[in-house]
Amino acid sequence: RAIYLKDYQAPDYWIDTTDLTFDLFEDHALVTSVLGVRRNEDHGEDTPELTLVGIDLELVSVCVDDTELTPAQYIQGSESLTVPVASQAFSLTVVTRIRPQENTSLEGLYKSNGMFCTQCEAEGFRKITYYLDRPDVMSKFTTKVIADKGRYPVLLSNGNDIARGEFDGGRHWVTWEDPFKKPSYLFALVGGDLEVVEDTFTTMSGKEVALRIFTESHNIDKCDHAMVSLKKSMKWDEEVYGREYDLDIFMIVAVDHFNMGAMENKGLNIFNSSCVLASPDTATDASYQRVEAIVAHEYFHNWSGNRVTCRDWFQLSLKEGFTVFRDAEFSADMNSRGVKRIEDATVMKTAQFAEDAGPMAHPIRPQSFIEISNFYTLTVYEKGCEVVRMIQTIVGKDNFRKGSDLYFDRHDGEAATCEDFVKAMEDASGVDLSQFRNWYNQAGTPVITVTDHFNPSSRQYSLTIGQSCPATPGQDSKLPFHIPVAIALLDQKGQALPLNEVGETEQVLQVTAANETWTFDGLTEKPLPSILRNFSAPVRVNYDYRREDLVFLMKYDSDGYNRWDAGQRLATEVIQDLVKGLLKGEEAEIDSKLIEAFGVVLADEQLDKAVKTEMLRLPTEASLAEQAEEIHPLQICEARSRVRKAIAVAHKNQIQALYQTLEQKGDYSPEATEIAERTLRNTCLGYLSELEDDSQQQLAVDQYRSAGNMTDLRAAMSAVINSSYQSQETIDALLNDFLDRYKNDSVVMDSWFMMQSASPSLGTLEHVKSLLEHASFDSTSPNKLRALLGGFASGNMKQFHSGSGEGYEFLADWIITLDKQNPQTASRLMTPLTRWKKYEPVCREHMRKALERIKAVPDLSTDIYEVVTKSL
Ligand code: ARG
Ligand code: ZN
Repeated sequence: RAIYLKDYQAPDYWIDTTDLTFDLFEDHALVTSVLGVRRNEDHGEDTPELTLVGIDLELVSVCVDDTELTPAQYIQGSESLTVPVASQAFSLTVVTRIRPQENTSLEGLYKSNGMFCTQCEAEGFRKITYYLDRPDVMSKFTTKVIADKGRYPVLLSNGNDIARGEFDGGRHWVTWEDPFKKPSYLFALVGGDLEVVEDTFTTMSGKEVALRIFTESHNIDKCDHAMVSLKKSMKWDEEVYGREYDLDIFMIVAVDHFNMGAMENKGLNIFNSSCVLASPDTATDASYQRVEAIVAHEYFHNWSGNRVTCRDWFQLSLKEGFTVFRDAEFSADMNSRGVKRIEDATVMKTAQFAEDAGPMAHPIRPQSFIEISNFYTLTVYEKGCEVVRMIQTIVGKDNFRKGSDLYFDRHDGEAATCEDFVKAMEDASGVDLSQFRNWYNQAGTPVITVTDHFNPSSRQYSLTIGQSCPATPGQDSKLPFHIPVAIALLDQKGQALPLNEVGETEQVLQVTAANETWTFDGLTEKPLPSILRNFSAPVRVNYDYRREDLVFLMKYDSDGYNRWDAGQRLATEVIQDLVKGLLKGEEAEIDSKLIEAFGVVLADEQLDKAVKTEMLRLPTEASLAEQAEEIHPLQICEARSRVRKAIAVAHKNQIQALYQTLEQKGDYSPEATEIAERTLRNTCLGYLSELEDDSQQQLAVDQYRSAGNMTDLRAAMSAVINSSYQSQETIDALLNDFLDRYKNDSVVMDSWFMMQSASPSLGTLEHVKSLLEHASFDSTSPNKLRALLGGFASGNMKQFHSGSGEGYEFLADWIITLDKQNPQTASRLMTPLTRWKKYEPVCREHMRKALERIKAVPDLSTDIYEVVTKSL
């Protein structure tokens, strides 16, 4: 069932033009597809039969040129249509009937809240009509959409609208033409009763582009932030990459039922509502930033993805890794660069490292897959981004821009490969990236082991760096990677020492061998190394820091990321000690160095508030689990919670004072400095809520009552429901109040479910089950499923792993049910179970049983089949 990169072959036929007509009705849609087919001349003069793919289609008729074929003349397979070919070029007309109303997979054409919409990446187009649904087949699309005018006044597709009209009986039509050739995965169609927010953007060459964001009418007041973000993105891509927009119109549509975040369809981006809508009253700071980042991401795909697309799905990271890198740099420029780096490194080190260490580990360019939907992963996206970032670090920023220009220039209008990208970078910079290419072939997280030595008589300091990479499924041994390791050496005062003649205090070591030593001359004392500054490579670092060294780095390292990382390392070690103690039944002491170090951070008035907040966060349970030899979930939760309480008790006055000085502001603005203040203040509130003290407990309730925006409201709500000292009455009162205010806002209701399911105290299995019955829960909505089931299974370590496997059984039941309805979403929800081998024996066995039960279900989707068989 697997397909392999090594088997890639260009198609026998090209489809130069695709003319589609959609007749949309209440119980079906009729799709007429007229394809201009041409023989791939590279494959010879003969004309083999043509096989198109199609799934869940009712075939109505097939015509070659102007002749209708009889059923005896074509072969209809369960997922294919094969037609005879007699000439080098011909037109193929296929009429199919589909049922968008019954399409619960949310791939292809489906309905969400009465609106028709599409999701075609990766292989959804084949659920619309028979086609060569592969990204190297690029075609010029013209799309006519016909529907009832009253119900569906807005009819959209890619490109420019070139004609419209009305029929008798209340139906109308619009024809869209996309002048750019594109693969079918970038096709989109929308039909609904939508309102629009309009604006314009003038490009660098002076062309005016119409910008339109469409939503259901009750959400139309929540589009401003997305519009501002879009205009910022368009400007940034011109300034930083020299990329100009290319159509007269750019549209975004918000839909409630969506499997992923958003989709970059040419000229018509379709977004999960949660990634586009924002207002002070309904969205947190984090959501504001997420909207900005995703709007940018999808917009940037217009060049990195659409103008230059992927040859095949093994190359997915070509567009995704590069586009994530582009959006990360955009967000860093718009907000706090330091915090963005810490956030991205956190995702890598908790979730992506876990993926790399699990049964689904794959290189950023996978070598095989059963179901491509399973490869829209943190590895392809986030590690792919880190690989692009390393290229920039290795070749330098100026060369990187030259390489990007060369890449776009060479491959504009083409379906390219990761190799094309690396080659362009190599050609533009003159830097040899041959060994660097191992990052595209090898899975797993490399480990660098650093040892050092100081020789006082020769005044030489040497750093030895060894690298290794653990085995991953199908890859037992690995070749050494080319790893850029940024370092600095700190003297006893915390000053970074000059490392070369020009006095630079940071150097990027090009680690290429399995083991290599660097020597630094002229030192009077043994320095403390600051290693992997700014997270210069997606690797683990082993260096035997003493705890006082970590405290020192927390105070003095001039690299914000490493300063933060030192604190995380220290806290991780201290919590790991407690876990060990708990397992032995001993009362282990909390190392006072950590408590004191947090006091220093709290007191540091020079420290940027955003960075300070990050430094005050303890490593998450997920991060602690990732770094554990064997995961003991309940002990991790207990140990972490004790450390949190100890910090709150020790620094109560300081935290309280900080909370008071950071007063709530009047009007909300999602501006970086304000976000930093709110986040810091709410971090303080979280600590204060750990205190068994009525006046401290009252703070959160008061903040809930007085909050002027969703950020402060939700922080207060979380503090209340996660506190062990609040009464059930208070918790219920707040939950009901929140429900009353937001029951009609689907995106906000997601957070209402999530706050509860992810709460270690409130989110018991019983409570989660009762929420499934709630009127606002909707099991056809991926957002709701992620909020409730994902919040519980991925966000609530304590409750999910309590009991004797009931949580796993519950999740398995849902996965089995959802697999019939929406395999993509089912497959993603299964992730926590796939990590079973890392858990302590009791959990491990229960998790394995749950997976076995899923595996035994007949007719599993390819999505679930692949993950469950690879996991066991
Ligand atoms: N290309 C989209 C993005 O990165 C993701 C869409 C993937 N969708 C899917 N169903 N696999 O923005
Ligand atoms: Zn993307």
